[in-house]
Amino acid sequence: MTEPKKRVAILISGRGSNMTALIEAAKAPDYPAEIVGVFANKPDAGGLQIAAGQGIATAWRWHKDYPSRTGFELALSDVLKLWRPDFIALAGFMRLFTPEFTEKWQGRMLNVHPALLPLHKGLHPQQQAIDAGDSESGCTVHFVTAGTDEGPTILQRRVPILPGDTAETLGARILVEEHIAYPEALAMLARGEVSFAG
Ligand code: GAR
Repeated sequence: MTEPKKRVAILISGRGSNMTALIEAAKAPDYPAEIVGVFANKPDAGGLQIAAGQGIATAWRWHKDYPSRTGFELALSDVLKLWRPDFIALAGFMRLFTPEFTEKWQGRMLNVHPALLPLHKGLHPQQQAIDAGDSESGCTVHFVTAGTDEGPTILQRRVPILPGDTAETLGARILVEEHIAYPEALAMLARGEVSFAG
């Protein structure tokens, strides 16, 4: 008997190109996960319309409408209760969580970051890599823990940093790899080939 597909909610803040890569991958009949909803922390996140156009449930809660991080997370949790995801995939979701939220989802929440973690956490990682004089960069898909851009790595893909690269040209090169790495990492998690051990 085939295993039921794992239910995945995607959280975004922007254009959602990684979200789109996950949605496309999940269309394959043998992909082990299905996308059950896309949530954004702002009403104008471009990815919301793309997801809705694919017939996927969407919701947004503007974080500025909530007096505290916890209040926002309670609103998010209410949406998640409806969607009943097994896993959460952060795809350009630019809000930090409380430790209570990350602990609740420990081992079940993934993020993609455009750097070879543990190098270059936080904002502008592509520029950080260029400024550091690195010869290569890439992307990391990792489990989310309380520390920003920390948590055990599931997989990385590498790209060269070329002479004359800007944050934009390097970012575009990395993004191509993100779109390969993220569906692959999510499939590994959904098949039980990786688990949290941190
Ligand atoms: C991606 O490059 C992702 O790795 C990055 O934001 C971009 C979102 O693009 N995430 C982070 O920097 C998280 N620390 P997308 O909306 O097109 O997927």
